[in-house]
Amino acid sequence: MILSIESSCDDSAIAITEISTCRLLFHKKISQELEHSAYGGVVPELAARLHAEALPKILEECKPYFDKLKAVAVTSSPGLAVTLIEGVTMAKAISVALSIPLIGVNHLIGHIYSLFIEKETQFPLTVLLVSGGHTQVMEVESLHKITTVAKSMDDSFGESFDKVAKMMGLGYPGGPLIEKLAMDGDRKKYNFTIPLMQTPKLAFSYSGLKNAVRLAVENGTKEDYKDIAASFEHVATAHIIHKLKKYFAITPPKNFAIVGGASANLYLRSQIETLLKPHAASLLLSELKYCSDNAAMIGRVAVEMYNQEMFSSLDTLDITPRSQL
Ligand code: KG4
Ligand code: ZN
Repeated sequence: MILSIESSCDDSAIAITEISTCRLLFHKKISQELEHSAYGGVVPELAARLHAEALPKILEECKPYFDKLKAVAVTSSPGLAVTLIEGVTMAKAISVALSIPLIGVNHLIGHIYSLFIEKETQFPLTVLLVSGGHTQVMEVESLHKITTVAKSMDDSFGESFDKVAKMMGLGYPGGPLIEKLAMDGDRKKYNFTIPLMQTPKLAFSYSGLKNAVRLAVENGTKEDYKDIAASFEHVATAHIIHKLKKYFAITPPKNFAIVGGASANLYLRSQIETLLKPHAASLLLSELKYCSDNAAMIGRVAVEMYNQEMFSSLDTLDITPRSQL
């Protein structure tokens, strides 16, 4: 079995995965949403302190598995430096105490493998990752062959929802709050500009849209919030659809997946389903509980890495907060 730890942002999670079957045997996550909500976003130092409290509590519950562990895996990149270090330090201590190898996992690859928790891998795959830290499209052929074809030049899709929620004083995380508010709103009421329409570049940008929404919030009243939320969600999604359409014209998709915390967004899902129809491409999604950050996805990647003996040493495993795919 492999014990895996996730602490790249504001979720403390540990999983136990059986190597021979990829079966998830244990998973527990303690989220810090409530604690960060008052600040409208994640406060890194507070997050690190909460990981230091939560991770040992979850680890206590894993003790019955200790004598069966063959490796310990941990998210080592990318993420917040002060929170990544909490998980990596714990993983190193477990590696020494139990004399088992250490596996450093990339969080973004973790999101891709969230599709295959308890499932066989299915590659090649075109993947849209939409999370709080990333908005990118990747061609995934295998664990070793991942090519990024488009990514954000500034804010991410999920982050823009967080910022809009913060402007409206709704709390954190903003994604589910804005999605709920948007359901009663008019998507056409505010004519926000779809980003990067004038350039053929395959890239994403959310900073301009965020500022346009800020002006609408400042000039509006609370009664307008639902229409602002709906119009924002529509344009934030239309931006992705517009760029994907351009990409699919050159590279038609066969299998397409949406992963990451914001892949829970139903409007985005439905718009992508419509876009895929003429291509007869299948749409893969992870179970809702594994869309947002979790340790089960890290454990799933770790099984692949264990089978290929992709181990790190205590000296060389370091955090790389800004690593990219
Ligand atoms: O993958 P994740 O848990 O953490 C990162 O790796 O960043 O994603 C969290 C992000 C947050 O920005 C959150 O607001 C967004 O995903 N999110 C959503 C929804 N649910 C979560 N964004 C839009 N619609 C949602 N329903
Ligand atoms: Zn994530």
